[in-house]
Amino acid sequence: MFLTRFTSIPILYHWHVLCGVISAFPKVPVTKVALFYPGQSSYQWLRSEAHKGANKETTRGDACTSCHDDETEEATQGAKILSGKHPLEPHADKLKGKSGHIDMTVQAAYDDKNAYLRFQYKTDNKSHPGNDYPAYRFDGKEWKSYGHMRLNKNVLAGKTPVIYENRLNIMLDDGKVPGFANQGCWLTCHDGERDMQKEPTREEVQANALMAAIKKNDVRKYLPATRTDSMDWKTGKPLDEIAKLKASGEFLDLMQWRAHRSDKVGGADDGFVLEYRNFDKGANHFASNMDSKTKQPKFMFDPAKFGGKAYAAGDVGGKKELILIKGVNAVPFDPNASWKEGDILPQYVLSGEDAKGSAADNKALSRWNNGVQTVVFVRPLNLTNDDDKTLKPGGVYNVGFAIHDDNMTGRGHHVSYNKTLGIGVKADIQAVKLN
Ligand code: HEC
Repeated sequence: MFLTRFTSIPILYHWHVLCGVISAFPKVPVTKVALFYPGQSSYQWLRSEAHKGANKETTRGDACTSCHDDETEEATQGAKILSGKHPLEPHADKLKGKSGHIDMTVQAAYDDKNAYLRFQYKTDNKSHPGNDYPAYRFDGKEWKSYGHMRLNKNVLAGKTPVIYENRLNIMLDDGKVPGFANQGCWLTCHDGERDMQKEPTREEVQANALMAAIKKNDVRKYLPATRTDSMDWKTGKPLDEIAKLKASGEFLDLMQWRAHRSDKVGGADDGFVLEYRNFDKGANHFASNMDSKTKQPKFMFDPAKFGGKAYAAGDVGGKKELILIKGVNAVPFDPNASWKEGDILPQYVLSGEDAKGSAADNKALSRWNNGVQTVVFVRPLNLTNDDDKTLKPGGVYNVGFAIHDDNMTGRGHHVSYNKTLGIGVKADIQAVKLN
C-alpha cells in the first residue's frame, strides 16, 4: 500500500526501512514523551505575576523543568488548564472531553542518508483520522470559506462548523538559539499571536513596521531576539539585523506532518521560526485552490475518480477522504459545470511533484488505526540550506513536539517540554544506527 502511495516521490530513502518502520521499529529503544494542553501560557504570561512566584526565575532563563519536574506534571498541568477554572483557557467550556495531556512514544534511528523519527499516540477522535480540512462552499453565487478549528471566532459563534486537520510538529534547535534548551517551544509563543491574549486587528498588524516589511497580516511564532523588547511583538528589529541572526544560525527548524495537506503525498513541511513562522524556500506539498482573480476554485474532483465533482456537508467526518491531489483525483475547475448550493471543494490542492527545494526536504508517512496515530518523519542528514538545521551523526539537538488533535490549529495543540535528540549519541532520545 505504501509503495503505491509513494511511487510519485523521488526515492531518497530505503524502501525496506520505511515499510518496516511504519509497522514496527523492533530494535529501536522507545522514549516516552508527555505533551500537555498549554492554553494561553505565553512568553509574557510566564514572566508575569500570574505565573505564581516563578516570573523571576523564568525571566532569568531557568529551565521550565527545574520546577515542573514531577513525573505526572504534564497530566496535572493539562487537566488544570482545561478544568474551566484556569485563566489560561477562556474557552474551556467549549472543549469538554478534550484530553489535558497526550502520552507519546518516540523512536529514532538513522542511516547514511536520513534520520527516522517514529511517533505513536492516541488521538481524541476515535472514529476519524482527522484528515478533513476547512474548504470552500458554494452558496449559489460565490465560493465561501467553510469550517475552522474549535477556537476560531466563527466556530465559537456557531457560524461555521468545526473542521481541522490533525498535525504532528517538531521544533528543533542545534544549540544556537539562546534559551531554547531550557524553555523550548514557549520561547516562540507570545501575546498578540493568533488566538492568544491581546490579539491585534489585521489593520494594527499591517501598520507595524516589521510586519509591513515582511508583508504579513497576523502575528505568528517568533523568537524574542527578533524584537528590541522581547515582551512586545510590535518592536521588530530591522530586517538586516534579523538576517544576521539567521546567518548565525539563530533560528529554529519546524517540521510539520499534516493529516490533510501533506500526508497523502508522503511529505511533512519544512519551515523555520525567526521573526515569523516561515516556510523554507521552494514549494510546499500543498497550494491554494482559490484563483484570486476569478474568485473560483482552481481544481475540482474528477467525478470518475471521486464519485462526484465536489462533496457535501454530510461527507465531512465520514469515511470518504476529502483530499484533492493533482495527478490522482483533481481536474481543472469547470465554471460551467452545474454547481449547486452546498457543493464543497477543498481549500488546498496537493502535489508531490510540485513540492520543491528546501521546503520539500522532509518526507513522512503515517497510519491511523482506531484512534492510534503512527507517524514516521524522514529527515535527510547533512542538509546545507540556509533555512535548515543540519542533522549529523554525533550531533545533539534540542527538540520540542506539538500535536494538533481533534480539529485544532494555532494554540489549541498539546506541547512538550524540551527534550534532547542525539544522533548516535546519548540524549533523552537517542537515534540508533541502522545497518
Ligand atoms: C521557579 C519555578 C518555575 C519555573 C522555572 C517555571 N514554572 Fe511554571 N509554574 C510554577 C508554579 C509554582 C506554578 C503555579 C502552580 C499552581 O498554581 O499550583 C506554575 C504554573 C505554570 C502553568 C499553569 C498551569 C499550572 O501548572 O498551574 C504553566 C502552563 C506553566 N507553569 C508553564 C511553565 C513553563 C512553560 C515554564 C518555562 C518557560 C515554567 N512554567 C517555568 C513554577 C515554575
